[in-house]
Amino acid sequence: MSAPILTDVATELTPPVLPAPPLPIRTERLVLRAVVPDDSAAIGAYCADPEVTRYLPFPALDADGLARRMERLVAGTAPSAPEEMLALAVEHEGVLVGDLMLRLTDRHGPADPPAIAELGWVFAPEYAGRGFATEAARALVDLAFTHYPLHRLMARLDPRNVTSARLCERLGMRHEAHTRQDFPERDGTWSDTAVYGLLRPEWAAAF
Ligand SMILES: CC(C)(COP(=O)(O)OP(=O)(O)OC[C@H]1O[C@@H](n2cnc3c(N)ncnc32)[C@H](O)[C@@H]1OP(=O)(O)O)[C@@H](O)C(=O)NCCC(=O)NCCS
Repeated sequence: MSAPILTDVATELTPPVLPAPPLPIRTERLVLRAVVPDDSAAIGAYCADPEVTRYLPFPALDADGLARRMERLVAGTAPSAPEEMLALAVEHEGVLVGDLMLRLTDRHGPADPPAIAELGWVFAPEYAGRGFATEAARALVDLAFTHYPLHRLMARLDPRNVTSARLCERLGMRHEAHTRQDFPERDGTWSDTAVYGLLRPEWAAAF
């Protein structure tokens, strides 16, 4: 008699599989689409620049590092569970100018879909200062709250990364915390973290 009960419990604890988001997304000046292996040269060009990766959790990429990153980005098409991500290439007039990611992080209960996600962005320096990152990230925020049942979006960054902090503020994210010496640097030291957050009602009010 116990087997059916166990089966029922197992069924109840299975979270839903979320569908892949509708892509591409078009904004006024940009196209956001899935990353493909042919993007390797464009992404490799800016990710090999130590100035670009200075505040990223990976060093300037060599060929092996780029191959590993491309594998992760290309696979990031249909996140459904914590630790899975959506990766997007951002194109302007047919040229890849940057990439974005949305990483699902937490769910409320074991049978719930993810409710918290983290944003990330990397743009080629030659396309900086034109609002491309803001335009693309806004579209990703809208996708995040329309396609996924998210309650909260967040970004974590090195507080010295002022361009990224300004981008969070342009997106309407709130500076919620500054935690001290909690991020392990590549040189053996610790750096601080700034936490930015945006809750669904705040996004809906600005939408
Ligand atoms: C973080 C990063 C994406 C920000 O790039 P950015 O060029 O500052 O951001 P945008 O493309 O949105 O451009 C915004 C700038 O263009 C200006 N701008 C010009 N035209 C604009 C427009 N139409 N719309 C909005 N902003 C515009 C803005 O005023 C702003 O300049 P300001 O910051 O001096 O005020 C970029 O610095 C980067 O890739 N850094 C390396 C990777 C990294 O650190 N990632 C984050 C890890 S947490």
